Amino acid sequence: MKSTTRICLLVIGAALALPSFAAKDPNLKVLKARQGEMQLRSFNAGPLFGMAKGQVDYDAELASKLAGNLKTQLSLDMSRAWKKGTDNDAYPGKTTALPKVWTTYPEISKYGKKYGQAVNELAAAAGNGLDALKPKVSALGKACKGCHDEFREKKE
Ligand code: HEC
Repeated sequence: MKSTTRICLLVIGAALALPSFAAKDPNLKVLKARQGEMQLRSFNAGPLFGMAKGQVDYDAELASKLAGNLKTQLSLDMSRAWKKGTDNDAYPGKTTALPKVWTTYPEISKYGKKYGQAVNELAAAAGNGLDALKPKVSALGKACKGCHDEFREKKE
């Protein structure tokens, strides 16, 4: 290949690569990871809420497994997914995380702690029958909602 042709191809390659670089804001990955974490919580908690409401048959093994999954999720350090500057003022329509998450920090950690406590208690009780499960699931739901009420954009 002639060197001029090679240079031309390089220039074209760079021109094609550049716009996609510019469009890929790394903070979008941060939002997605945060929402992914929440989606996973919701996926694991869903059947537990269903069991507590009597919409899903109580199943000790499944309940223990799902509560265990929520507990395992607690062991992940997801702090990178809560990067400053990724609120819904900066990314309207892409995130529902209010600026308050960061402006009142470490207030949100209290809600995180409560949530962690609810998950641990749930995991300890989930396999012990529906009566043991119900109050722990209720506390879990309150922990999710408590944080959403404070730190998440309200749905219309
Ligand atoms: C300590 C605070 C906190 C707790 C506890 C919490 N959430 Fe969230 N959740 C948030 C915030 C903040 C957002 C907004 C994230 C975003 O849009 O960037 C969110 C978003 C979500 C979303 C929407 C995700 C998306 O794709 O946009 C779901 C679903 C969700 N949470 C489920 C749950 C469930 C279920 C629980 C409890 C088992 C829970 N959350 C506990 C703070 C919390």
